[in-house]
Amino acid sequence: MKKTIFILSVALVFLLIIWVVVRMHRADTVTHGDYQASTRDEKTTIYDIDDLEGQVAQIIPVGGFDYIRGGAQTENTMRRNESAFDMVDIYPRVMSGVDNPDTRTQILGIDISMPIIAAPAAAHGLAHVSAEAGSARGVAAAGTIMSVSTYASSTLAEVAGAGNGAPQWFQLYLSKDDVANRALVKSAENQGYRAIILTVDAPIGGNRVRDARNNFKFPLDLPNVPRSGGQGIGAIFAAAKNDLTPFDIMRVKSWTDLPIIVKGIQHPDDAEVAIAAGADAIWVSNHGGRQLDGAPAAFDVLPEIAKRVNKRVPIIFDSGIRRGQHVFKAIASGADVVAIGRPVIYGLALGGWRGVESVFEYLKTDLQRVMWLAGAQTVEEIKDIELRPRCMTAQCVEM
Ligand code: FNR
Ligand code: LAC
Repeated sequence: MKKTIFILSVALVFLLIIWVVVRMHRADTVTHGDYQASTRDEKTTIYDIDDLEGQVAQIIPVGGFDYIRGGAQTENTMRRNESAFDMVDIYPRVMSGVDNPDTRTQILGIDISMPIIAAPAAAHGLAHVSAEAGSARGVAAAGTIMSVSTYASSTLAEVAGAGNGAPQWFQLYLSKDDVANRALVKSAENQGYRAIILTVDAPIGGNRVRDARNNFKFPLDLPNVPRSGGQGIGAIFAAAKNDLTPFDIMRVKSWTDLPIIVKGIQHPDDAEVAIAAGADAIWVSNHGGRQLDGAPAAFDVLPEIAKRVNKRVPIIFDSGIRRGQHVFKAIASGADVVAIGRPVIYGLALGGWRGVESVFEYLKTDLQRVMWLAGAQTVEEIKDIELRPRCMTAQCVEM
């Protein structure tokens, strides 16, 4: 009898262990389906951010990769985001005694180690199993700000936990349901997020030809969006609020005391409208060329917007930032800080949180080198360095 009980107990413990192992495996597959996101965990050696794209293509499935990397339609606007920086030159000032330039700066009262922050981007879980929680840890280690999308694949609580007190902003996509919208904003506020980014350049999705060809659907749930797993980004955008107006800025502002940053501004008149509606900061961006193909490069519209804003509120800039000289040129054209979208996700895929930290460290070192060579000791001094349109003939070298 005793022997039977013993054998039964051992069998029970054995079954329990098998059950736990199977559950653990299932927990992983529920989140990630058959989709194999990266599990890497290492520092990433970076010679040039442009190299990362090809490396990431080797390690994550094509549907996820194309969604992340892709732009709208012909991708001309996306390509021009980067090449536009080559149309202006930095006129370096030498002998200015610059020594070990200081990349630290501030935005909306937050001290950061460099004028480079993480842009909000959907579904980091496509790149790495740690998703936005991994990115948040890497961004915190780099000493800068993490922005988290409404369409993130980690929960707001997971991201806040991974940031461990580091500054984070929540990016809001308005749904058609204001009760849910307010609840999201409140939840961000309660969990210590320090600003709300209201994105206004995506009343619907851009024409993502790569996603259409791949018939790409999210293989994972986006916890802030009901029934999102198995849907494409077009359907998710279509179910959101499709008729944004400045009144939406006022409404979101009335829900919270947090600063409101209006993201996706590409015209000086819209910057004016956003400020009049209560924007505490303007985010100049064309969404990394993912929305309106045929729109100008984001860098091309920055100087005019900065002139109109005239320092009334800070300006964040993104779309195409890949090098220190891009950061420098954006700041010299009126941005206070810049943000990076795809490079963060590439770093995450290639090395988890350590890969994200590597991307920021690379850009910081590259910016510091540019500041040293161009004659700017501080981020503020970058604004005093002259940029000129690229000289195509000998006549334009007249000083
Ligand atoms: C984005 N972007 C974005 N923006 C936003 O406000 N909410 C979002 O959910 C997303 N999602 C998203 C997903 C992916 C995969 C990418 C690449 C981008 C746009 C993002 O915030 C930023 O504007 C661009 O990524 C900047 O361009 P670069 O740095 O990727 O060239
Ligand atoms: C994108 C989103 C979700 O660009 O903003 O795909």
